Amino acid sequence: MGVEAGPPPRARHGYRQQKYRNIVARPIAEASVKAMLARENALFTQRNPNSHSLSEKAARNWLHGVPMHWMVDWGTPFPLFIEKAQGVDLTDADGHGYIDFCLGDTGAMFGHSPKPVAETLAREAANGFTTMLPSPDAAVVGELLEDRFGLPFWQVTATASDANRAVLRWCRAITGRKKILVFNRCYHGAVDETYVTIDRGRPEADPALIGEPRDLSELTKVVEFNDVAALEAALAPRDVACVLAEPVMTNVGMVLPEDGFLEKLRILTEKAGTLLIMDETHCISSGPGGYSGEIGLKPDAMVMGKPIAGGIPAAVYGFSSDAAERIRKFLETRTPGHSGIGTTLSGSRIQLALMRSVLETYVTREAFAALIALAKKLEKGIADVIIKHGVDWHVVRVGARVEFMCCPTRPRNGGEAAKAIHGAIDEAVHHFLLNRGVVITPFHNMMLISPSTTEVHVQTLIDGLDRCVTELRS
Ligand SMILES: Cc1ncc(COP(=O)(O)O)c(C=O)c1O
Repeated sequence: MGVEAGPPPRARHGYRQQKYRNIVARPIAEASVKAMLARENALFTQRNPNSHSLSEKAARNWLHGVPMHWMVDWGTPFPLFIEKAQGVDLTDADGHGYIDFCLGDTGAMFGHSPKPVAETLAREAANGFTTMLPSPDAAVVGELLEDRFGLPFWQVTATASDANRAVLRWCRAITGRKKILVFNRCYHGAVDETYVTIDRGRPEADPALIGEPRDLSELTKVVEFNDVAALEAALAPRDVACVLAEPVMTNVGMVLPEDGFLEKLRILTEKAGTLLIMDETHCISSGPGGYSGEIGLKPDAMVMGKPIAGGIPAAVYGFSSDAAERIRKFLETRTPGHSGIGTTLSGSRIQLALMRSVLETYVTREAFAALIALAKKLEKGIADVIIKHGVDWHVVRVGARVEFMCCPTRPRNGGEAAKAIHGAIDEAVHHFLLNRGVVITPFHNMMLISPSTTEVHVQTLIDGLDRCVTELRS
């Protein structure tokens, strides 16, 4: 365990903040944002009569009007209905084409229906989807996971949320400790216990959480990312089973680890007998071993989901030899019965076949090199737009993932980031781009590069953003 030498994390974050220091950045006027939103919403409604009518029909049977409630959270007057997705091309119900930089919020990071994965799906569709027994692919995929992510022992789940829940259980079981620790404003999926914030000065369940009667702060400790002193103090009583963390916070804008923070996290957890879980579900954008792989961080457990089977529900979690040995020992003493870990459709032959295809084709150093080269161009292009217009924004990149935030300096932690997010500007920019055929991730300003993304796509986005900011300034 411990941290191997590697390039300092900052080297991978790309465009330096210093670039902006000598420009006088001015905020965008609120009135201008409001006016753009009104214009773009009217244009959206006018452009999309078929989506409009589909949304009215769907509302008769779907709670919230859509199969999953956050589909209406994009802020448009009604959701866009997508007929077809291929590579980075989306076609909506009115026949409009889009370049997709959202890519299913990472689920389609390797493109929509990527050819090798679609071919595997078509081939394997004839051979059965799920049997409750392993398929021959299991042996190969296990080896691939160890090779890519560095941990030897793995399990499959249907979603990254499931994987995180399972890992938390295992960590509690083998340490005999009840508490866990997360970073303020983290997101690890639908994992109730991680929804504890300190925004109002003390740990409390996120008021947004629905139907949760327990006082989650009893067993969840929460500190700010990059706060070594708070982390050390929280771990000192040696009652924390595990820390669950993304190496870069990616769900509240993007919050980078400061130099040495992750290394310190590794050292402090080890010292406190606390297991370290790295959730690489989004940070897989860093490279074929995730962010941990890029910096040589050795966690005790890792979670990886979303694109691991090309966007078909599948996720994995892995353990170090040491943690796996502790699990084996624990199982010798365990009471027989339902474990509370695992769901029927997990580890199915179709998941294994698709994961094999994704790991062999896309989770490779060569494949990532091309994505990262293009992501750098996007980052530079956005930085140039920010500088040209003197807006008080910044851009940040982690591998193939680029994010611009509408605040002048990088937030140091989740609390700062949550305060800095400017919902109205984000929405105005999203809608402007959407009406001009470019999709970026809703809720914040994330853009992913996939193997199907081209320089022309990237330039289209940069030009669109340039036009958008020009209009916002006028
Ligand atoms: C870092 C991280 N972990 C886990 C999840 C949960 O993934 P899923 O919704 O596929 O369960 C997410 C979802 O956005 C995530 O961002």
